[in-house]
Amino acid sequence: MAVRHFLTLNDLNNDELTALLDHASFLRRDWRAGNVRNSLRNRVLAMIFEKSSTRTRVSFEAGMTQLGGSAMFLSPKDTQLGRGEPIDDSARVISSMVDAVMIRTFAHEKIDRFAAMSRVPVINALTDDFHPCQLLADMQTYREHRGSIADATVAWIGDGNNMCNSYINAARQFGFSLRVACPEGYAPSQPLLEQHRDCVEVVSGPEEAARGAHLLVTDVWASMGQESEQSARMKAFSRFQVSPQLMSLADPDALFMHCLPAHRGEEISADMLDHPGSVVWHEAENRLHAQKALLEFLILGTLD
Ligand code: CP
Ligand code: NVA
Repeated sequence: MAVRHFLTLNDLNNDELTALLDHASFLRRDWRAGNVRNSLRNRVLAMIFEKSSTRTRVSFEAGMTQLGGSAMFLSPKDTQLGRGEPIDDSARVISSMVDAVMIRTFAHEKIDRFAAMSRVPVINALTDDFHPCQLLADMQTYREHRGSIADATVAWIGDGNNMCNSYINAARQFGFSLRVACPEGYAPSQPLLEQHRDCVEVVSGPEEAARGAHLLVTDVWASMGQESEQSARMKAFSRFQVSPQLMSLADPDALFMHCLPAHRGEEISADMLDHPGSVVWHEAENRLHAQKALLEFLILGTLD
Protein backbone atom coordinates (compact mmCIF):
# COMPACT_ATOMS: atom_id res chain seq x y z
CA MET A 1 0.00 0.00 0.00
CA ALA A 2 1.27 3.51 -0.85
CA VAL A 3 2.63 5.55 2.05
CA ARG A 4 0.21 8.28 3.21
CA HIS A 5 1.60 11.72 4.06
CA PHE A 6 0.00 14.74 5.74
CA LEU A 7 1.41 17.76 3.94
CA THR A 8 -1.85 19.68 3.68
CA LEU A 9 -5.42 18.99 4.84
CA ASN A 10 -6.16 17.78 1.31
CA ASP A 11 -4.14 14.61 1.92
CA LEU A 12 -7.12 13.19 3.86
CA ASN A 13 -10.67 13.05 2.60
CA ASN A 14 -13.62 14.42 4.54
CA ASP A 15 -14.62 11.01 5.97
CA GLU A 16 -11.08 10.37 7.15
CA LEU A 17 -10.84 13.82 8.72
CA THR A 18 -14.13 13.33 10.56
CA ALA A 19 -13.06 9.89 11.84
CA LEU A 20 -9.71 11.35 12.88
CA LEU A 21 -11.36 14.13 14.90
CA ASP A 22 -13.70 11.64 16.59
CA HIS A 23 -10.70 9.54 17.51
CA ALA A 24 -8.81 12.60 18.75
CA SER A 25 -11.70 13.45 21.11
CA PHE A 26 -11.73 9.83 22.32
CA LEU A 27 -7.94 10.02 22.93
CA ARG A 28 -8.43 13.26 24.85
CA ARG A 29 -11.01 11.65 27.18
CA ASP A 30 -9.02 8.42 27.49
CA TRP A 31 -5.79 10.22 28.39
CA ARG A 32 -7.56 12.53 30.84
CA ALA A 33 -9.09 9.45 32.49
CA GLY A 34 -5.53 8.24 33.14
CA ASN A 35 -5.65 5.21 30.84
CA VAL A 36 -2.43 3.84 29.38
CA ARG A 37 -2.25 3.26 25.63
CA ASN A 38 0.54 1.47 23.80
CA SER A 39 -0.63 1.68 20.20
CA LEU A 40 2.76 2.94 18.93
CA ARG A 41 5.00 0.78 21.10
CA ASN A 42 8.59 0.77 19.80
CA ARG A 43 7.70 3.18 16.98
CA VAL A 44 9.96 6.18 16.39
CA LEU A 45 9.11 9.64 15.07
CA ALA A 46 11.91 11.85 13.70
CA MET A 47 11.15 15.55 14.25
CA ILE A 48 13.04 17.98 12.02
CA PHE A 49 12.74 21.58 13.19
CA GLU A 50 14.21 24.36 11.04
CA LYS A 51 12.08 26.97 12.88
CA SER A 52 11.31 27.46 16.57
CA SER A 53 8.43 25.74 18.33
CA THR A 54 6.88 25.16 21.73
CA ARG A 55 3.46 23.53 21.14
CA THR A 56 4.42 21.43 18.13
CA ARG A 57 7.55 19.99 19.67
CA VAL A 58 6.00 19.27 23.06
CA SER A 59 2.82 17.78 21.62
CA PHE A 60 4.55 15.45 19.15
CA GLU A 61 7.20 14.35 21.63
CA ALA A 62 4.77 13.84 24.52
CA GLY A 63 2.27 12.21 22.16
CA MET A 64 4.72 9.57 20.94
CA THR A 65 5.80 8.77 24.50
CA GLN A 66 2.19 8.53 25.70
CA LEU A 67 1.48 6.01 22.90
CA GLY A 68 4.46 3.84 23.90
CA GLY A 69 6.88 5.08 21.23
CA SER A 70 9.54 7.76 21.13
CA ALA A 71 10.44 10.93 19.26
CA MET A 72 13.82 12.24 18.18
CA PHE A 73 14.50 15.98 17.86
CA LEU A 74 16.73 16.90 14.90
CA SER A 75 17.87 20.45 14.33
CA PRO A 76 19.83 21.65 11.30
CA LYS A 77 22.45 23.00 13.71
CA ASP A 78 23.49 19.55 14.94
CA THR A 79 22.85 17.38 11.89
CA GLN A 80 24.09 17.26 8.31
CA LEU A 81 20.78 18.87 7.28
CA GLY A 82 22.29 22.23 8.12
CA ARG A 83 25.52 21.50 6.25
CA GLY A 84 24.03 21.05 2.82
CA GLU A 85 23.33 17.30 2.61
CA PRO A 86 20.74 17.06 -0.18
CA ILE A 87 17.10 16.63 0.93
CA ASP A 88 16.74 13.50 -1.19
CA ASP A 89 19.68 11.81 0.55
CA SER A 90 18.49 12.89 3.99
CA ALA A 91 14.97 11.63 3.25
CA ARG A 92 16.23 8.23 2.11
CA VAL A 93 18.44 7.75 5.13
CA ILE A 94 16.16 9.09 7.87
CA SER A 95 13.08 7.33 6.52
CA SER A 96 14.95 4.02 6.43
CA MET A 97 15.36 4.14 10.23
CA VAL A 98 12.13 5.54 11.69
CA ASP A 99 8.35 5.04 11.38
CA ALA A 100 7.34 8.63 10.55
CA VAL A 101 8.98 12.02 10.00
CA MET A 102 7.64 15.38 11.12
CA ILE A 103 9.10 18.50 9.50
CA ARG A 104 8.83 22.22 10.30
CA THR A 105 10.58 24.25 7.64
CA PHE A 106 10.43 27.31 5.38
CA ALA A 107 9.64 26.53 1.71
CA HIS A 108 6.76 24.10 1.25
CA GLU A 109 8.56 22.55 -1.76
CA LYS A 110 11.15 21.19 0.65
CA ILE A 111 8.62 19.03 2.47
CA ASP A 112 7.10 17.90 -0.85
CA ARG A 113 10.57 16.83 -1.95
CA PHE A 114 11.29 15.03 1.31
CA ALA A 115 7.95 13.20 1.12
CA ALA A 116 8.58 12.13 -2.46
CA MET A 117 11.75 10.31 -1.34
CA SER A 118 10.48 9.04 2.02
CA ARG A 119 9.60 5.40 2.75
CA VAL A 120 7.49 6.45 5.76
CA PRO A 121 4.72 9.02 6.37
CA VAL A 122 5.80 12.66 6.43
CA ILE A 123 3.86 15.22 8.49
CA ASN A 124 3.87 18.96 7.83
CA ALA A 125 4.43 20.66 11.17
CA LEU A 126 4.33 24.12 9.50
CA THR A 127 5.82 25.53 6.34
CA ASP A 128 5.69 29.07 5.00
CA ASP A 129 2.51 28.03 3.17
CA PHE A 130 0.49 25.69 5.42
CA HIS A 131 0.00 24.54 9.03
CA PRO A 132 -2.43 21.61 8.74
CA CYS A 133 -1.74 20.08 12.18
CA GLN A 134 -3.04 23.26 13.80
CA LEU A 135 -6.24 22.95 11.79
CA LEU A 136 -6.84 19.43 13.15
CA ALA A 137 -6.66 20.86 16.66
CA ASP A 138 -8.85 23.84 15.75
CA MET A 139 -11.53 21.69 14.11
CA GLN A 140 -11.48 19.26 17.04
CA THR A 141 -11.90 22.18 19.43
CA TYR A 142 -14.84 23.65 17.53
CA ARG A 143 -16.60 20.24 17.46
CA GLU A 144 -16.02 19.73 21.17
CA HIS A 145 -17.65 23.07 21.95
CA ARG A 146 -20.29 23.54 19.27
CA GLY A 147 -20.69 20.30 17.25
CA SER A 148 -20.27 20.20 13.48
CA ILE A 149 -18.72 23.26 11.84
CA ALA A 150 -20.46 22.49 8.53
CA ASP A 151 -22.47 25.52 7.35
CA ALA A 152 -20.95 27.79 10.02
CA THR A 153 -19.32 31.12 9.16
CA VAL A 154 -15.68 31.56 10.11
CA ALA A 155 -13.87 34.93 10.10
CA TRP A 156 -10.13 35.02 9.49
CA ILE A 157 -8.76 38.39 10.55
CA GLY A 158 -5.16 39.34 9.83
CA ASP A 159 -2.38 38.02 7.66
CA GLY A 160 -3.06 35.83 4.62
CA ASN A 161 -0.38 33.45 5.90
CA ASN A 162 0.19 29.71 6.40
CA MET A 163 -2.65 29.49 8.96
CA CYS A 164 -5.02 31.41 6.71
CA ASN A 165 -4.18 29.11 3.79
CA SER A 166 -4.93 26.08 5.94
CA TYR A 167 -8.27 27.64 6.96
CA ILE A 168 -9.02 28.01 3.23
CA ASN A 169 -8.39 24.27 2.76
CA ALA A 170 -10.47 23.55 5.86
CA ALA A 171 -13.44 25.55 4.53
CA ARG A 172 -13.74 23.12 1.61
CA GLN A 173 -12.94 19.99 3.63
CA PHE A 174 -15.30 20.74 6.52
CA GLY A 175 -17.99 22.63 4.60
CA PHE A 176 -17.94 26.06 6.26
CA SER A 177 -17.91 29.58 4.79
CA LEU A 178 -14.74 31.54 5.37
CA ARG A 179 -14.56 35.33 5.34
CA VAL A 180 -11.01 36.66 5.09
CA ALA A 181 -10.16 40.21 6.17
CA CYS A 182 -6.53 41.19 5.47
CA PRO A 183 -4.79 44.53 4.94
CA GLU A 184 -4.10 45.39 1.32
CA GLY A 185 -1.06 43.52 0.06
CA TYR A 186 -1.39 40.74 2.66
CA ALA A 187 -4.16 38.62 1.14
CA PRO A 188 -3.69 34.88 0.66
CA SER A 189 -2.45 33.68 -2.72
CA GLN A 190 -4.80 34.48 -5.60
CA PRO A 191 -4.74 30.97 -7.16
CA LEU A 192 -5.71 29.42 -3.80
CA LEU A 193 -8.57 31.92 -3.43
CA GLU A 194 -9.76 31.23 -6.95
CA GLN A 195 -9.83 27.48 -6.33
CA HIS A 196 -12.06 28.08 -3.30
CA ARG A 197 -14.44 30.73 -4.60
CA ASP A 198 -17.44 28.64 -3.52
CA CYS A 199 -16.50 28.72 0.18
CA VAL A 200 -14.07 31.64 0.71
CA GLU A 201 -14.74 35.35 0.38
CA VAL A 202 -12.29 38.23 0.86
CA VAL A 203 -14.11 41.05 2.65
CA SER A 204 -13.24 44.70 3.15
CA GLY A 205 -12.40 44.77 6.86
CA PRO A 206 -12.50 43.03 10.25
CA GLU A 207 -16.03 44.24 11.08
CA GLU A 208 -17.51 42.82 7.90
CA ALA A 209 -15.74 39.51 8.54
CA ALA A 210 -16.85 39.31 12.18
CA ARG A 211 -20.53 40.23 11.75
CA GLY A 212 -22.63 37.19 12.71
CA ALA A 213 -19.64 34.81 12.48
CA HIS A 214 -19.52 31.64 14.60
CA LEU A 215 -15.74 31.56 14.94
CA LEU A 216 -13.14 34.35 14.84
CA VAL A 217 -9.52 33.40 14.22
CA THR A 218 -6.32 35.37 14.00
CA ASP A 219 -2.55 34.86 14.11
CA VAL A 220 0.61 36.91 14.52
CA TRP A 221 1.19 39.81 12.15
CA ALA A 222 4.76 38.75 11.35
CA SER A 223 5.38 35.03 11.03
CA MET A 224 8.66 33.22 11.58
CA GLY A 225 11.04 34.30 8.84
CA GLN A 226 9.37 37.75 8.49
CA GLU A 227 11.09 39.41 11.46
CA SER A 228 12.62 42.15 9.27
CA GLU A 229 9.09 43.19 8.17
CA GLN A 230 7.83 43.60 11.74
CA SER A 231 7.61 47.40 11.83
CA ALA A 232 6.00 47.75 8.37
CA ARG A 233 3.50 45.06 9.32
CA MET A 234 2.66 46.76 12.64
CA LYS A 235 1.52 49.80 10.64
CA ALA A 236 -0.33 47.87 7.94
CA PHE A 237 -2.20 45.66 10.43
CA SER A 238 -3.09 48.23 13.10
CA ARG A 239 -6.81 48.14 12.17
CA PHE A 240 -6.90 44.34 12.31
CA GLN A 241 -6.77 43.66 16.05
CA VAL A 242 -9.24 41.14 17.49
CA SER A 243 -10.84 42.51 20.67
CA PRO A 244 -14.01 41.96 22.74
CA GLN A 245 -15.47 44.90 20.81
CA LEU A 246 -14.98 43.06 17.52
CA MET A 247 -16.33 39.85 19.09
CA SER A 248 -19.51 41.72 20.04
CA LEU A 249 -20.39 41.90 16.31
CA ALA A 250 -20.18 38.12 16.00
CA ASP A 251 -22.84 35.52 16.82
CA PRO A 252 -23.53 35.58 20.61
CA ASP A 253 -22.11 32.02 20.86
CA ALA A 254 -19.05 32.77 18.74
CA LEU A 255 -15.72 31.21 19.68
CA PHE A 256 -12.28 32.76 19.37
CA MET A 257 -9.14 30.82 18.39
CA HIS A 258 -5.47 31.65 17.96
CA CYS A 259 -2.79 29.07 17.21
CA LEU A 260 -0.40 30.85 19.64
CA PRO A 261 2.07 32.28 20.44
CA ALA A 262 -0.04 35.43 20.82
CA HIS A 263 1.14 39.03 20.94
CA ARG A 264 -1.13 40.99 23.26
CA GLY A 265 -1.51 44.57 22.07
CA GLU A 266 -0.87 43.54 18.45
CA GLU A 267 -3.17 41.02 16.74
CA ILE A 268 -5.24 40.69 19.94
CA SER A 269 -6.16 43.15 22.66
CA ALA A 270 -4.66 42.48 26.10
CA ASP A 271 -7.95 41.00 27.37
CA MET A 272 -8.89 38.87 24.36
CA LEU A 273 -7.56 35.52 25.61
CA ASP A 274 -9.76 35.89 28.72
CA HIS A 275 -12.94 36.59 26.72
CA PRO A 276 -15.71 34.03 27.47
CA GLY A 277 -15.64 32.93 23.81
CA SER A 278 -11.89 32.28 23.83
CA VAL A 279 -10.99 28.57 23.66
CA VAL A 280 -7.27 29.02 23.01
CA TRP A 281 -6.02 26.82 25.88
CA HIS A 282 -8.32 23.96 24.92
CA GLU A 283 -7.19 24.48 21.32
CA ALA A 284 -3.52 24.34 22.33
CA GLU A 285 -4.02 21.11 24.33
CA ASN A 286 -5.81 19.56 21.38
CA ARG A 287 -2.60 19.68 19.37
CA LEU A 288 -1.59 16.71 21.54
CA HIS A 289 -4.74 14.68 20.97
CA ALA A 290 -5.26 15.52 17.30
CA GLN A 291 -1.67 14.60 16.44
CA LYS A 292 -1.82 11.34 18.43
CA ALA A 293 -4.81 10.42 16.27
CA LEU A 294 -2.89 11.50 13.16
CA LEU A 295 0.18 9.44 14.14
CA GLU A 296 -1.95 6.33 14.67
CA PHE A 297 -3.73 6.89 11.35
CA LEU A 298 -0.51 7.35 9.37
CA ILE A 299 1.67 4.75 11.10
CA LEU A 300 -0.90 2.01 11.77
CA GLY A 301 -3.33 2.79 8.95
CA THR A 302 -6.32 2.52 11.29
CA LEU A 303 -8.20 4.53 13.90
CA ASP A 304 -9.31 1.92 16.45
N1 CP B 1 0.83 26.87 17.19
C1 CP B 1 2.08 26.41 17.04
O1 CP B 1 2.39 25.71 16.06
O2 CP B 1 2.93 26.72 18.06
P1 CP B 1 4.50 26.48 18.13
O3 CP B 1 5.15 27.39 17.13
O4 CP B 1 4.86 26.79 19.54
O5 CP B 1 4.78 25.03 17.79
N1 NVA C 1 1.99 32.07 11.22
C1 NVA C 1 2.83 31.72 12.32
C2 NVA C 1 2.30 30.51 13.03
C3 NVA C 1 3.08 30.09 14.24
C4 NVA C 1 2.57 28.84 14.86
C5 NVA C 1 4.26 31.48 11.83
O1 NVA C 1 4.42 30.87 10.76
O2 NVA C 1 5.20 31.91 12.50
